[in-house]
Amino acid sequence: MKLWGGRFEKGTDELVNDFNSSIRFDKRMYKQDILGSVAHATMLGNCGVITKEESELIVKTLYIILEEIENGKAEFLIDAEDIHMNIETMLIAKIGDTGKKLHTGRSRNDQVALDIRMYLRDEIDEILIMIKNLLLSLSKIAGDNLETIMPGYTHLQKAQPITLAHHICAYIEMFSRDTLRLKDTRKRMNIMPLGSGALAATTYPFDREFVAEKLSFDDITYNSLDGVSDRDFVIELAGSLSIIMMHLSRFCEELILWNTNEFSFVEMDDSCSTGSSIMPQKKNPDVAELIRGKVGRVYGDLMSILTTMKGIPLAYNKDMQEDKECIFDAVDTVKLCLPVFTKMLDTMKLNKENMLKGASGGFTNATDVADYLVRKNIPFRQAHEIVGKMVLYATKTNKALDEFTMEEFKNCSNKIEDDIYEAINLKTCVEGRKIIGGPAKDAVLKTLDKCKTFIEKEF
Ligand code: ARG
Repeated sequence: MKLWGGRFEKGTDELVNDFNSSIRFDKRMYKQDILGSVAHATMLGNCGVITKEESELIVKTLYIILEEIENGKAEFLIDAEDIHMNIETMLIAKIGDTGKKLHTGRSRNDQVALDIRMYLRDEIDEILIMIKNLLLSLSKIAGDNLETIMPGYTHLQKAQPITLAHHICAYIEMFSRDTLRLKDTRKRMNIMPLGSGALAATTYPFDREFVAEKLSFDDITYNSLDGVSDRDFVIELAGSLSIIMMHLSRFCEELILWNTNEFSFVEMDDSCSTGSSIMPQKKNPDVAELIRGKVGRVYGDLMSILTTMKGIPLAYNKDMQEDKECIFDAVDTVKLCLPVFTKMLDTMKLNKENMLKGASGGFTNATDVADYLVRKNIPFRQAHEIVGKMVLYATKTNKALDEFTMEEFKNCSNKIEDDIYEAINLKTCVEGRKIIGGPAKDAVLKTLDKCKTFIEKEF
C-alpha cells in the first residue's frame, strides 16, 4: 500500500503510477534526503515530539540506509513514487512503527524544497571548483603570452592589435563574474524551508534554527507558502548556468575559427580532436562544437523551468516536480563541458607567428596613424579622414601602412616625419595602450594580478 493510501479504495492505475513517479530522476538526491531526515529526526527528539531513543534509532537506521544505497544494496521502487517515500519505506521496513514517526510535522512539500536546495548547493560548489581550474588555466596562458601580438576584431574584421593575453583576460573577467553569480545564487538558495509543512507550517513546536544550523543553512524561510513553492533559486541557477554556457560557447566559436586553415592561430591537440569517417585529412574541433551545441539544452532547461512556474498558484503543485529533470540536465551539462573545455585549452598549440601575421595585414594600426597626426596638432576628425585616404591608397597599391615610403607619407600629410615608423609598429601600438584594462603588458599584468587575488579570495 502507498504511504498515503488510507483514503483510497482502489490502487493506482499502472500508467498513472509510472507517470507520477519521479524516482528515476530524483533518486540522485538520496543523500540530501537522508541528511535532511537525520536533522529532522534529531530535532523531533530534542523537542520531545518523539523520544530520544526513537530519534536515535531513526537516525542510526537512516545512516545504514545511506550506506546501503552507496553500496548499491538498496532497491528503489517506482511504486514508492519518489526519493522521499522510497527512503521512508526503507526505514519503516527496517524499524516498523518507530520509522512511521519520522514524517511527523513534515510534508514532502517542504522536504523536497529542502532536498533540492541542499543538492543544488553541493553542485554549485563542484562547479565553482571547475571554474577555478579554468581560471587558473586561462591565467597561465595569458601569463605566457603577454607579448604575443594578435589582431583584435570588431564585426569579425581586423580592428586593432592586441595580445593573446589581453584576449584571454576578457574571458577571465567573464568567468570571474560567473563565479560571483553562482556564489550569489547559492546565497539565496541556502535558506532552510523545513517547518513549512504542506503549506501552512505546523502546530508542533519545532526548532527550525537547529535544523538550519545542523544542515549548514544561513537562515530559515519566513513564509510557509513561499517556503514550499519558491523555485526562484532553481531558475536563477539555470540562468547562471546559461550565462556560463554562453561564455563557453563564444570562446568555442572563436577557437573553432582560430583552428581553421584560414586563421590557423591555434591547433587543437590530437587528443582533443576527432577525425572524419570519409575524409582522411580531417581533424575536427568536435569538443568546441559540442560545447557550442550544448548551450541549446541549457537555455532550453531555463525556458522550461520558467514556463512551468509561470502559472502555478500558491503553494505546492505537482507541476513543480518538473523542475528537477531540467535543472539536473543543466547542471550535468555544465559539469561535462567545463573540464573538457579546460583540457582543450591546456593542450592546444598556439601559432604565434600566424597571430602576428594576422595583426600585420588589415590596417590594424590605422587608428595609431590617426593618433600620430593628432599628436602633430591635427584635429582627430581631420586625421581620421587623412588616414582613410591613406588606407584607400594602400588598398589600391596593395601595401600595409607601415610599408609606405616617406614620400608616400608626405603626399598624405606633410606633418608626417620619420618617427612615424616607430609610432605605428604593432608593438608600439599595443604598448601605448597601457591604461588599466588595456592590452599593454603592464596593464595585462595588473588584470592578472587582480585575477590572482580574486582566486585567493573567492574560492
Ligand atoms: N516528488 C515530488 C516533487 O518532486 C515531491 C513532493 C510531492 N508532494 C506532493 N504533495 N505530491 O515535487
